Amino acid sequence: MFKNLLNLSDLQEEDVLKLIELANNFKDGEVAAYRQENLFPDKTIATVFCEPSTRTKLSFELAAHNLGAKFIDFDLTNSSIQKGESLEDTIEAMAMMGVDVCALRHSSSIIHDLAERFPQMQFINAGEGSVAHPSQGLVDLMTIQESKKSFKDLNISIVGDLDHSRVVRSFLEAIALVGYSTLTFCGHPDLCTSFVDTPVGNFEPDLSAAIQDSDVVMALRIQNERLESKLTIGAADYIDRYQINVDTLQAAAPDCILMHPGPVNIGIELDKEVLELENSKIKNQIFNGVGMRMAILTSIFSQA
Ligand code: CP
Repeated sequence: MFKNLLNLSDLQEEDVLKLIELANNFKDGEVAAYRQENLFPDKTIATVFCEPSTRTKLSFELAAHNLGAKFIDFDLTNSSIQKGESLEDTIEAMAMMGVDVCALRHSSSIIHDLAERFPQMQFINAGEGSVAHPSQGLVDLMTIQESKKSFKDLNISIVGDLDHSRVVRSFLEAIALVGYSTLTFCGHPDLCTSFVDTPVGNFEPDLSAAIQDSDVVMALRIQNERLESKLTIGAADYIDRYQINVDTLQAAAPDCILMHPGPVNIGIELDKEVLELENSKIKNQIFNGVGMRMAILTSIFSQA
């Protein structure tokens, strides 16, 4: 289906739907767990994470183990990178040692050059600055499909720090493949400069108006680590205007689902109470992360 997973815009609708089906097929019907399969004992995946992660890295690790593949969690802080070796030379050394797949998270868009330079390896984009996070986009579609009959009828609202979100960019590529009804973006103007005048949806500065009749509300955290200057809004005012809580969710459709890719700044973009609502799918997103990464690895390992 695809040699590398770099951007979701490289995929077709049928690729995405097949990945979701495959991910669901790995679920153990009896319990909230995944089946253990010994499908790829000759394959090795290394995670190279140059930015922090919990969900993505651990789910690739669990996915590799569930598929019977060998897994290496490359520790940059204790590697020869600390002696001045470049990341390029590090990846080349991995290729020479027989690593088949590299799942890379990096603040810059270097993965595309690496994939060209080392065609003997396969690459998965596990987070590229504020640009792309394709495996998360697939997890999000999988989670929506569990609750909603059709993508094409959905009114979707995305609220929060849109400018710095690689998740939203990959989600937009994903949802463009399967279809939707409306897309509404909401957030403080300091954090939404690229979305105020977007051709793919509407920008609505008022939270209640933005989530009015929404079928899916996706919240995003403020990425303090990527802010170049101090926000012109204080924390209390931000919470007052943009926090999603039980009251603000009243404006959404009655069966609206709430999503967040995590990690959540509890008490900032989301009130703690909404995490436990029946229609909160945030924990489902975490669980689906393992199955979707099993599906991605199965597809990638099968292409070699
Ligand atoms: N959603 C996501 O990418 O989370 P992590 O940063 O914990 O991997």
